[in-house]
Amino acid sequence: MSTIKETEWIWRNGQFVRWQDATVHILATAVQFGSSVFEGIRCYDTERGPAIFRLAEHLKRLRNSARIYRMETVYSDEELTEACFALIRRNGFRHCYIRPVIMRGYGAIGMDGVGSPIETYIPAWEWGAYLGADALEKGVDVCVSSWSRAAPNTFPGMAKATGHYNNAQLIKLEAMANGFVEAIALTHDGLISEGSGQNLFAVMDGAVLTPPIDGSNLSGVTRNAVLTIAADLDVPVRECTMPRELLYCADELFFSGTAAEITPIRSVDHIAIGPGGIGPVTRRIQRRFADIVNGRSNDDHGWLTLVPPS
Ligand SMILES: Cc1ncc(COP(=O)(O)O)c(C=O)c1O
Repeated sequence: MSTIKETEWIWRNGQFVRWQDATVHILATAVQFGSSVFEGIRCYDTERGPAIFRLAEHLKRLRNSARIYRMETVYSDEELTEACFALIRRNGFRHCYIRPVIMRGYGAIGMDGVGSPIETYIPAWEWGAYLGADALEKGVDVCVSSWSRAAPNTFPGMAKATGHYNNAQLIKLEAMANGFVEAIALTHDGLISEGSGQNLFAVMDGAVLTPPIDGSNLSGVTRNAVLTIAADLDVPVRECTMPRELLYCADELFFSGTAAEITPIRSVDHIAIGPGGIGPVTRRIQRRFADIVNGRSNDDHGWLTLVPPS
């Protein structure tokens, strides 16, 4: 079991509070009805200091998630950017995982939550490889989930909302109960969607394939980076619907996500993928990604935001 590595300060509604004081009421709408939206963002340790990966894109998705759920946001992207900088400096991080949350707080009795204040929190902590220490190098063993992702026009897939993660938990818990690290979930009509908290890619005949953003999956910031990196490396990319059985026939498979970064998949349902480890195309994309985020190669796409000294 991994637990959160506690730090000292959390940003809450414009102020810093101590880690243990960043609490919410049991009757907050967010607690009762899952009414909150959030982001997961990585800040990397580079030679030029801490650098946040694609902060603007994450804040844009946060704002869109709030908009979909009709939450009036209180802070501008500029204010949230400054808050992230201040949080990183104040906690003395070289690298960290940042988890901004916008939620409906305590007050309203109805499940619409209208009348509950909109609260904004930004916690951050140091977090290593999400799917295990060896995962990035050796790959992970996964299954296809018996749980589907939500159908379009049920839960809005483009929103990163906490309530949606009940579905993600079912997917992940079942996988772990059956001895797998993760699962790949299908759409309501049986096509490949994504992992519980990662987008999915396949490599077939030299091309990189990924399911389209179809209402069942999240429009991942890392997914977008992978598509860009693959194109930069002259690897053909295609967004296309993918049947389940493509998983078993792929030359390579990998997950992408802020937490998982680029994690190879070495088997699905006990069927080895390709040679059963990290494949050559995955390795090229993973290396380029790691070089960019760690500041070792040119940030041609302007993905890193350096945290300025105070
Ligand atoms: C359900 C789901 N899909 C995909 C992703 C990957 O998105 P990103 O690359 O923006 O972290 C995440 C992680 O945020 C997720 O929770």
